[in-house]
Amino acid sequence: MGGRVLSVASECVPLVKTGGLADVVGALPAALAKVGWDMRALLPAYRALRVQAKDWPVVWDEADLWGGPGKVRAGEIGGVSLLLLDAPHLYDRDGGPYSAPTGEHPDNAIRFAALSWIAARIAREGLTDWKPDILHAHDWQAGFAPAYLAYHGNGGVKSVMTIHNIAFQGWSPAHMLGVLRLPGHAFHPEALEYYGGISSLKAGLVTADRVTTVSPSYAAELMRPEFGMGLQGVIAARAALVSGILNGVDTELWSPANADPPFGPKSMAGKATARARICAEFGLDVPGPLAIVVSRLTDQKGIDLLPAVVPDFVLGGGGLIVLGSGDPGMEGAMRNLAARFPGRVAVRIGYDEALSQRLFAGADAVLVPSRFEPCGLTQMYGLRYGTLPVVSMVGGLADTVIGVNPATLAAGAATGFSFHPVDALAFSRALGQLVECHRQPKLWAKLRANAMAHPVGWETSASAYASLYEGLTA
Ligand code: ADP
Ligand code: GLC
Repeated sequence: MGGRVLSVASECVPLVKTGGLADVVGALPAALAKVGWDMRALLPAYRALRVQAKDWPVVWDEADLWGGPGKVRAGEIGGVSLLLLDAPHLYDRDGGPYSAPTGEHPDNAIRFAALSWIAARIAREGLTDWKPDILHAHDWQAGFAPAYLAYHGNGGVKSVMTIHNIAFQGWSPAHMLGVLRLPGHAFHPEALEYYGGISSLKAGLVTADRVTTVSPSYAAELMRPEFGMGLQGVIAARAALVSGILNGVDTELWSPANADPPFGPKSMAGKATARARICAEFGLDVPGPLAIVVSRLTDQKGIDLLPAVVPDFVLGGGGLIVLGSGDPGMEGAMRNLAARFPGRVAVRIGYDEALSQRLFAGADAVLVPSRFEPCGLTQMYGLRYGTLPVVSMVGGLADTVIGVNPATLAAGAATGFSFHPVDALAFSRALGQLVECHRQPKLWAKLRANAMAHPVGWETSASAYASLYEGLTA
């Protein structure tokens, strides 16, 4: 069947990224093209993008977009068909997508309402040569787009709202209702009202035709108070329309065949070389498993558990390289660990994609002790490179890693290590298993082979999105 989808988001690889949302928004168009769906992504033309798109044709011209004009320019970057919303008064600023060097932009609600408004208008009315069948909104930044379709007319277009992370909800005070072009009659708890104000994510959840999240386990978790972060009731009430579709990863980009030196399931020598090189680069000498963390350093990611578990892990022969940035307290704690265990623990504060690829190629294990994890991508990179994931059993981590236990060992199915609950004791036990398995070369080789054989591409998920769209347009 197939059709057209307008994807609306605040981030997209290779243009702008703060987390996995960007990877997914950037990967979906190519993955969906293979199953007959033509997807274009609408994003704000942040300062750097504006420069890249300055000569692209204008395909939409909005005279009044909250205090200034907005032009949509169409073009293509890195194989992604893009619509960039050029509204300098909202997006041509210093800093990242959400904040200036001095802190978060105070008008973020309006900046992303504007993106959503244009998305809804393009969906409803169509461009001259392209009218979508589906509007697909990602996270709170695009949450008002389904709402604008619902309250201002949908032109026959269906909408899908995907939750990548429920921790960010886009809350505004009630007096913003009119400013945000939302109707007063919908300001009640069953519709827009949320803790006395308005949440753009909730708006999307209550108005979209379908709701998805990025793993089946997270879909189930979101209906429980421990994970729903206040929106559990809203999601549970729409349970019949909610589904979890696991993310994939770009298996061309994240491939041991493209590592330096290349390796693969049948020839792992290159991995040993890559390991030796990163150990030399970081001044490490690690007799046991060399683990890595590549992550935002935040509470979500369970990074604060590391200081409690690393000493025993090091005693057991392990080593650790942390690549990440975020919470200043956690950055400091990571630096302290490195200072305490020279030769065994190293830390690089910052964001470095090339280094992260070298780490995945060379390391023995990747640690992902998240408190909640809608999907998670790094455990899947780990599987791909035979870098065994050590994960907490939450969300997408539970859906992608088969932890070592007597049953999975007997069945020869294990691909990594998993623990529950998310605390230092359970995490430490899993690291103990890692050390133990690493000492047994035959078992270690088997676990690696299992991990590398585990499918992590987009094929299955692209078909799942296609079925969802087809169900809506049939
Ligand atoms: P989240 O989106 O919650 O941060 P994901 O696992 O979905 O978590 O995606 C994180 C993405 O960001 C991955 O592609 C990961 O490799 C990348 N990443 C995170 N921190 C760094 C870093 N310091 N350097 C390089 N890449 C990073
Ligand atoms: C969010 C989640 C992460 C997920 C990513 C892409 O950032 O925290 O788990 O992988 O979105 O969907």
